[in-house]
Amino acid sequence: MERKYYMKIKVEGLVNPIGLDVKNPRFSFVALVDNGALFQKSYSFTVADEEGNIVWDTGIVASDSSVNIEYAGEELLPYTHYIVKAEMTDDKGAVHCGEGFFETGRLDTEFKGDFITADFHTAMDFSAGEIQNRETPMLIVADEMGDIHEKIKRELELIRSGKKEETEFRRPLVFQQKFNYDGEVGSARIYISSMGIHYCWINGELADRCFFAPGWTSHTHELQYYSYDITGLLQKGENTVSIMVANGWYNRRIYWLLARDQKNFSNDIATIAYLRIKSTDGKVTEITTDKTWTYGFNGITDSGIYQGEHFDARISACCDKEVRLIEYPKDVLVGECSQRVRAVEKLPIKDIIITPEGDTVLDCGQNVAGVPMLKIEGKAGEVVELEFGEVLDKYGNFFANNYRSATCDYVYTLRDGYQEYYPLTTYYGFRYIRIKSFPGTVKKENFDILVLSTDMERTGFFSCGNADLNQLNNNILRSMKSNYIDIPSDCPQRDERLGWTGDAQEFSTTASFLYGVDPFFKKWLRDMAADQGEKGGVPNIVPFIRVWGDDKWRVEELTKLGYPDTKLGVDNVDWANFWGDAATICPNVMYDYFADTRILTDMLPCMSKWCDFLYEQMISPVGISKHGQLADWVGLDGEPGAYIGATPIDYSADACTLYSFKLTSRAAKIVGDIEKAEKYQKMYDEQIGIFREKYCNSKGVVEKTQASKIMAVVFDLVENKELQVKLLADQIKEDGYRLIVGFIGIRYILQVLSDYGYTDIAYKLLLRTQFPSWLYQVKKGATSVWEHLDGVTDDGSFWSMDMNSFNHYAYGSVGDWMYSRIGGIRLDRDHPGFKHFFIQPLPNTEIGHAESSYSSIHGLISTSWKIEDGKFSLDVEVPFNTSATVTLPSGKTMEVYAGKSSFSEPWIP
Ligand code: BGC
Repeated sequence: MERKYYMKIKVEGLVNPIGLDVKNPRFSFVALVDNGALFQKSYSFTVADEEGNIVWDTGIVASDSSVNIEYAGEELLPYTHYIVKAEMTDDKGAVHCGEGFFETGRLDTEFKGDFITADFHTAMDFSAGEIQNRETPMLIVADEMGDIHEKIKRELELIRSGKKEETEFRRPLVFQQKFNYDGEVGSARIYISSMGIHYCWINGELADRCFFAPGWTSHTHELQYYSYDITGLLQKGENTVSIMVANGWYNRRIYWLLARDQKNFSNDIATIAYLRIKSTDGKVTEITTDKTWTYGFNGITDSGIYQGEHFDARISACCDKEVRLIEYPKDVLVGECSQRVRAVEKLPIKDIIITPEGDTVLDCGQNVAGVPMLKIEGKAGEVVELEFGEVLDKYGNFFANNYRSATCDYVYTLRDGYQEYYPLTTYYGFRYIRIKSFPGTVKKENFDILVLSTDMERTGFFSCGNADLNQLNNNILRSMKSNYIDIPSDCPQRDERLGWTGDAQEFSTTASFLYGVDPFFKKWLRDMAADQGEKGGVPNIVPFIRVWGDDKWRVEELTKLGYPDTKLGVDNVDWANFWGDAATICPNVMYDYFADTRILTDMLPCMSKWCDFLYEQMISPVGISKHGQLADWVGLDGEPGAYIGATPIDYSADACTLYSFKLTSRAAKIVGDIEKAEKYQKMYDEQIGIFREKYCNSKGVVEKTQASKIMAVVFDLVENKELQVKLLADQIKEDGYRLIVGFIGIRYILQVLSDYGYTDIAYKLLLRTQFPSWLYQVKKGATSVWEHLDGVTDDGSFWSMDMNSFNHYAYGSVGDWMYSRIGGIRLDRDHPGFKHFFIQPLPNTEIGHAESSYSSIHGLISTSWKIEDGKFSLDVEVPFNTSATVTLPSGKTMEVYAGKSSFSEPWIP
């Protein structure tokens, strides 16, 4: 007999999105099936507009497909509400149904309204002089850090002492419009974009409690607008719309002082808004930004992502000045496609410490990205001033040197009475807060910590019988949250917080297990393609900001070598292998985890251009440009104090390039571009022989460094992988099981070992607690993942006083191994989105048990194993409409389908 069940529907990976600028959105549904059915027999979709007209009816489609089903109905209209209904019939004949909606944004129509700004130039004007034009390669710059920080300090002193310009550019602008509305509001939306970050209040109420709208994009190519449902905020009679725009990522220095990009601080901050009210009888009223709006200032007297916020609660907003219109191409305006940044957790203060130096320091108990919310009773003019730090130094004193030129101010001037405040225009990366100024004695209750992160759906969970590994997992999660703030950043505290492509791709599989990151990557990869260099260089940082000069010195080098094309490898962006290879790696990861084929189609031109760019260099007598390459970044096998590990730069560049050829060929094949699939496979086939000749010994394997050997295997560069991994295992033993690899090696080391029979060594590395290892930092009390394995050395001092972040997710990429090998939930790359997958945990006596779960796009997968009384037992759960191949430690394999199953066998350690 037919029964009906509820299904969850997503549109473009989001639940009920509004302001969608996608002409053919994709729908997915997940059904919770508990009637013993295993597979889906058919589905149907209908999409209807607000009047109930059906614009798409698929009829019953005999298919087991449930994800990313592309809309193919009538052309969607702008600013329209569509209701999506789905039905699915399982193989027992039961019908499951779900309903959701989506609302379009402007689509192809022009965004209504003008960009408005202040009547003066808000742009920051301090020239970088000789610094900006430097032509020094990165590595030398790194060596000059000491000098750099002297310059930074001098500059900051000048600004603070008022000798350098101090104008309104530091202050957000508040734009305002008043209007009367006497109709009955059916629905009301306001669509807002801004150069700078914005907040909108309707009659004094925030339109949404998100932070940093409209996010960070490659502004010149794409400026998002956010869509707010303000139906409940309008009132009969007079209404006031206020939009505050602050510098954000747009108008104030982003990147350290020596690497400024004009793009980020040479424009006015501005906004454009379109308010659309539909009355209950269907009448549309529109209000747009134009010359009649006014602007002024509010209590925020200084604001910047790195600089923090100053707020004077005695100042009330006054918007009485005339705005100025500015021209800006409106075709860059695009509806948001990712989730918003929100306060995802609220933490109490754990402790108040008085340090040996006498400072009062609040301990939040964990290193996070966020803002402290102040709750205080006081008198007008009293000041609360805070300073932020991630760790205490070896003496237990406050330490903030590693913020470098990010001053991260938090200065709040009170009005009379009780008040609550948290900054809206900046964020801090911190565990400790030093009280610089506070009226009276600070109490724990004076603060809550709002933890900020892009508000994605949590999908992955892991725990096991080893407390340190559980802590490492929590740290990974925390560093991910701290660094998924609209873009995937390297760290949340110092004067970087940038979309370093290497870090992002390295962590992308771990991230894809922990959270539904598909929309987040879709947005970021769009920027990557937009910011790609003219010749194909994929920037080290997306959104792109120039870091190390114009590459003149590369030209000189090639000239010296007498090569005809001296511009080879020189592009208008800074690029490096492994970082730029994010262009080929990330879309493939999104396809593997979320069955997102469109991301492959959209990124294929970018991938191809990147590969062509590298290939041209590869076949030249000078090979791929070595300059700017970061190789096995911060590998500990390098020279003491060096930033680059011992793995040769040309080797890692060639190895990563060959991997990119393969991934591009794969992507092209999946989307049906056979010509490209063959082209990049051919490039790989042609170059692999040369590569082997250049780097392999007579036995066909590479001899140098752990990371070289790891790359040789995972990037499919040597034929005899067994021998290659044996050499790796031997070397690890010789190196005393010390984890001395850098960014590239660390990403794959455990995977390579366990895939080739060295699970014991993999566990030895993972469970090691002495330096260098992952758990060393856990033993040192880390609550987030460190940038360097030796961030704090054994004697409690710091590896570096400034290049030392304690909240960097890159080395958290080991999460992937924990979930896929300890937990045993593994992708089948031939069946994306876990339509079919593998369950193959690698149990370990010391760990004893492990529990993992992953809410895949097809539904919940879970595994739980334990070793007890000489027996290994495993419970698994497989989602409806999928299948899994389970492999037990003995090697016994079976196929399982929807539902729960249990297995056990004798445990032979
Ligand atoms: C960042 C890294 C990044 C590296 C590459 C650092 O400053 O924090 O995570 O990948 O630079 O140069």
